[in-house]
Amino acid sequence: MIKEIEQLLNDQIKYEAKASAQYLSMACWADTRGYNGIADFFYTQSEEERVHMTKLVKFINERSGNAVIPAVDKPRDDFKSLMELFETFLESEEFVTGKINNVIYECLQHKDYNVHNFMQWYVAEQLEEEATARTLLDKLKIIGDDKSGHYLFDRDINTFQVAEEPK
Ligand SMILES: [Fe+2]
Ligand SMILES: [Fe+2]
Repeated sequence: MIKEIEQLLNDQIKYEAKASAQYLSMACWADTRGYNGIADFFYTQSEEERVHMTKLVKFINERSGNAVIPAVDKPRDDFKSLMELFETFLESEEFVTGKINNVIYECLQHKDYNVHNFMQWYVAEQLEEEATARTLLDKLKIIGDDKSGHYLFDRDINTFQVAEEPK
């Protein structure tokens, strides 16, 4: 595997690990405030990011590279509102999308079509996760400060998924 590409994939491991820790922290925030549906949503998101991370680890190692497991900083746990919680979710996904696009760009520069092909799964995944985050934010904007709206949002969030996870 091309060294520069291996490094970028190792960086990507860190971003997925960071997202996994961030969503676990967001699940805790929701869980301790009585938002059980939102907590479940973020517990699941956290597990999915861990799967994204492990997929990269295995890919690097199977192609005779060396996956490096990174230290992860303490994630944010101070959210002022549901709106801020979900804005953080969208920002996190947009950040990861930017990094994935950069890996794709570098794969083309280095003519590494193998990794380029592998990364297409992540491109599809990011499209869906950003769409989910935007859908949820749109709903929160409609609800505004209405407490009964927040109650219903929490109750129904796990039925709002916009699309299936790519396989
Ligand atoms: Fe991810
Ligand atoms: Fe994600």
